[in-house]
Amino acid sequence: MTEPEPDLAESETLSAFAQTGDRDVETTLRPRKLDDFVGQPRVREQLQLVLESARRRGVPPDHVLLSGPPGLGKTSMSMIIAAELDAAIRITSGPALERAGDLAAMLSNLAEGDVLFIDEIHRIARPAEEMLYLAMEDFRVDVVVGKGPGATSIPLEIAPFTLVGATTRSGALTGPLRDRFGFTGHMEFYSADELAQVLRRSATILGIPLEADGEAEIARRSRGTPRIANRLLRRVRDYAEVRSDGRVSLDVARAALEVYDVDELGLDRLDRAVLSALVKSFHGGPVGVATLAVAVGEESTTVEEVCEPYLVRAGMLARTPRGRVATPAAWEHLGLRPPTEVPWEAGRFDQGNPGLFG
Ligand SMILES: Nc1ncnc2c1ncn2[C@@H]1O[C@H](COP(=O)(O)OP(=O)(O)O)[C@@H](O)[C@H]1O
Ligand SMILES: [Mg+2]
Repeated sequence: MTEPEPDLAESETLSAFAQTGDRDVETTLRPRKLDDFVGQPRVREQLQLVLESARRRGVPPDHVLLSGPPGLGKTSMSMIIAAELDAAIRITSGPALERAGDLAAMLSNLAEGDVLFIDEIHRIARPAEEMLYLAMEDFRVDVVVGKGPGATSIPLEIAPFTLVGATTRSGALTGPLRDRFGFTGHMEFYSADELAQVLRRSATILGIPLEADGEAEIARRSRGTPRIANRLLRRVRDYAEVRSDGRVSLDVARAALEVYDVDELGLDRLDRAVLSALVKSFHGGPVGVATLAVAVGEESTTVEEVCEPYLVRAGMLARTPRGRVATPAAWEHLGLRPPTEVPWEAGRFDQGNPGLFG
């Protein structure tokens, strides 16, 4: 038996990362075709062109990189790419490819036109990454046999395939790896309307009677993230079944979200910790992201790539050359009165600003 992770206990409902209970239901709820995929109109249109053109030419499409915060549909989109191509998909992840041999085995088992999906591709080990360069470019790997001066490298042909990589940290990819992708799709947070569509679709699949205003309420509080929207829908359904007649109305949705401690904007534990540190410990900033991360006991990369993008999008946090600052909306969200002189406005007239041109 494993202990629940204590610092996750409160935040699980709102985490954009997949939780243990999500796996099965996510499989059920995953869109299968590009047309079922809600939102991301740019990525969808661009991918449609990439895929259709490859299909007409009868070749596997260029390698595709999908980047964006967790829960926005990268894995779903990868599977859709394979489905649209009528291709088989092989799934692995960066951390699983510790040795080059692990990757060589996967690559040599590919059939022509297969899609190889590497999740968290920024975490791939260096030797495997170097093997991947050659595989992506020339559909070839060099397998090294033996050690030291007697080592020989045996070139091995592999079938033309399409690599689909997913990453929450495209900035952490090395230049050579990034350059070998023919197309990069950046996934954005979803609007409340788009999340409402996701919810409608999920409610139909799961047989949950979801009323329009209940749907809008859950959508608004799902942190722009379909994974969270789907999870909140299931939690609100639980509440509706136990405490009410099973229908998800506005009142039921509100009462349920109250019980699960979901705030008005659906900010998660880390979002709230960051805002609160920024406002209370640093008087609204500006403060460097590394300092902010230490204050909330998280890694800078998590704060930067998971938490900040949403706070910026929600208009709570601004990134300035001198550091992060809280907007008046952030103060108000925490129930505090914003200072009369707003830090980034002061910064704008600060001639000594080193970050702008330095
Ligand atoms: N555009 C979308 N339309 C409908 N459902 C979506 C969409 N994007 C994500 N989802 C839902 O959210 C869940 C998490 O998506 P996933 O592809 O695993 O995200 P990521 O790989 O980016 O973390 C999926 O199981 C799916 O149910
Ligand atoms: Mg994923």
